[in-house]
Amino acid sequence: MWSAIWPALPLLFPSALAAQPAAPAPIRAPLRDLHLGQLNFLHTTDTHGWLAGHLQEPSFSADWGDYISFAERMREKIEAQGRDLLVIDTGDRVEGNGLYDSSQPQGVYLSEILRHQHIDVMTSGNHELYKHNTSEAELQVTVPNFRGSYLASNIDIIHPETQELVPLASRFKKFTTKQQGIRIVAFGFLFDFTGNYNNTVVQRVEDTIKEDWFQEAVSDEEVDLFLVAGHVPAHSPEYRAIFTAIRATPGHEDTPIQFFGGHQHIRDYAKYDDKAVALASGRFMETIGFMSIDGLSSTSPIFKRRYIDNNLYSYYHHTGLDESSFHTDKGLNVSQLITESRSALQLDKTHGCNPRDLWMSRAPYPHEESIYTWLEKKVLPETLKNDPRGGEDRPAVAILNTGAIRFDIFKGPFTQDTMWIISPFTNEFRYVKDVPYDKVQLIMEVLNKQPQVMSMSLEETFDGLDSLGPPAQVKHFDGAMASSEPAIEWSGQDMAGTGQIPLSAEGPSGAVVPGYTTEDDDGDDGDDTIHSPIPFYRVPNVFQATLSANTTTKPETVDLVYIEFLQSYLTLAAKFAQLDVDFAKESKSYMPGSTLTDLVLEWVGKNWPCTDN
Ligand SMILES: *[C@@H]1O[C@H](CO)[C@@H](O)[C@H](O)[C@H]1NC(C)=O
Ligand SMILES: *[C@@H]1O[C@H](CO)[C@@H](O)[C@H](O)[C@H]1NC(C)=O
Ligand SMILES: *[C@@H]1O[C@H](CO)[C@@H](O)[C@H](O)[C@H]1NC(C)=O
Ligand SMILES: *[C@@H]1O[C@H](CO)[C@@H](O)[C@H](O)[C@H]1NC(C)=O
Repeated sequence: MWSAIWPALPLLFPSALAAQPAAPAPIRAPLRDLHLGQLNFLHTTDTHGWLAGHLQEPSFSADWGDYISFAERMREKIEAQGRDLLVIDTGDRVEGNGLYDSSQPQGVYLSEILRHQHIDVMTSGNHELYKHNTSEAELQVTVPNFRGSYLASNIDIIHPETQELVPLASRFKKFTTKQQGIRIVAFGFLFDFTGNYNNTVVQRVEDTIKEDWFQEAVSDEEVDLFLVAGHVPAHSPEYRAIFTAIRATPGHEDTPIQFFGGHQHIRDYAKYDDKAVALASGRFMETIGFMSIDGLSSTSPIFKRRYIDNNLYSYYHHTGLDESSFHTDKGLNVSQLITESRSALQLDKTHGCNPRDLWMSRAPYPHEESIYTWLEKKVLPETLKNDPRGGEDRPAVAILNTGAIRFDIFKGPFTQDTMWIISPFTNEFRYVKDVPYDKVQLIMEVLNKQPQVMSMSLEETFDGLDSLGPPAQVKHFDGAMASSEPAIEWSGQDMAGTGQIPLSAEGPSGAVVPGYTTEDDDGDDGDDTIHSPIPFYRVPNVFQATLSANTTTKPETVDLVYIEFLQSYLTLAAKFAQLDVDFAKESKSYMPGSTLTDLVLEWVGKNWPCTDN
């Protein structure tokens, strides 16, 4: 008897709870219900490999297996009422989490996990196209795994075998829903992206919609809904152009259009007119977007949106199920597969233990709790000093962009997982010798768009400068300066905090904890979970660390060390600072083979021992 039961136990316990074994329990919090409609959608975007969920944040602690259970249970519930559910994903599934980045080749575990979700319409993001082999993996693995669902309205790829330029996937599809036979024409777009590797071609959206196939697809009169999925911001010229093109088509002056978007990493909702709306569903498996449409064929259909915090408490509530009834076999299997994958990749391997939280935007800069201050004062001076400059103690300054860091560092174990999450980039450092210190300061001001150095021409040239900062900052601060005051009570670009008390037993039921408090075109009641706001501070585009120990006197000239990614920006900024340096030609490699990630790991290993082991 015992022998039959005993071996099963270790498997049974973790999987009956699902989520990842290391994930914190979700917090019981006040929730807004979903408004189910005639046609319903679940939407993910910008998951960037976070299919294990967030192992240090209760609000987002559900994993891809739980999401599979959620979609299955929602489908059962909705179809039992004779209504329909569609599942959408709008790209940037790759890069940004060890579950994707740390395998060789990259993504082999991730794509095995991803494929188990039933997805009706899927698109590529820009991250799928940066590298030669990433886009080929899309063509050869993800597109076949999601055949019939993957759409690529404006992406072509050079086929690795035939060397011919072919569509990455179908341009569009027409289908009818299972229960009600709603006739849908669906597209899958990428914004006007230009940073792709040269084995793919991204056609501008504005040009794509002039093509015959698109014009024919939108001229179809037998359509109840246009579904435009895309790795495109909800509010964007690209979606405006598609909206305008459909509305200009005879017969579709008021056909309902549902857009799904992403890329900005924010929760957002745009109303194009009474019958056309766009939903963007955040990032990193923090948010499951929900949409419903009622009265599709009426003169005034009702669109409802909800941003669901990705945790089991929300999932149980919205399905009306509980721990014992919610999980499906497939969902549990996938949670188990994630656990095994993380274990094979050794993502729980610990490098050190962080004594306190360090924030990207939740603390001002500079501040002892700012991740950038920590890099500037501790990590960079203590690790970058092993320079190749002949051992002379010549003063040096290192410039990094704040966007080089992708995520907060929470108090507690600093694992292999943490490493991939905060800094997945593989940029090395370079330097140029003997740059006048004053010019370096001028360059800093240019890159940070300080008003005293701004002129019209500079504004235009540097339109892209905000992209040096964290992506979520762009929408909310549109050109505002760094500040030590919280610029706004922040409305939903980041994540709910640690400092939350996981509700094991004693926590107050329904306590309001910090998290997303989104405002969008439909008001401030879109989030499923009612949260208190999180402060959000603007940070500069770039920051500098002084590398020489001796800073008693202001140096005449310094060696300028920088992260490779910044090279083209520095070249431009130098022109404005009237500094005649060609960074591409005159720079040399600095500590070859070392990336920011390596420096952080070295520092953490030396300075953050895990005392209680
Ligand atoms: C692409 O190539 C690089 C370098 O060889 C490798 O590290 C990476 O795993 C490859 N990625 C994929 C998706 O095959
Ligand atoms: C793509 O870029 C590589 C260099 O990265 C170059 O060798 C190759 O010729 C380019 N291919 C095309 C089709 O332009
Ligand atoms: C779950 O995994 C078990 C064991 O591998 C397998 O027998 C079962 O068919 C799987 N169920 C689903 C729904 O994938
Ligand atoms: C710092 O620089 C000053 C002036 O050049 C020099 O006198 C002093 O010894 C230096 N201190 C160290 C610690 O190198």
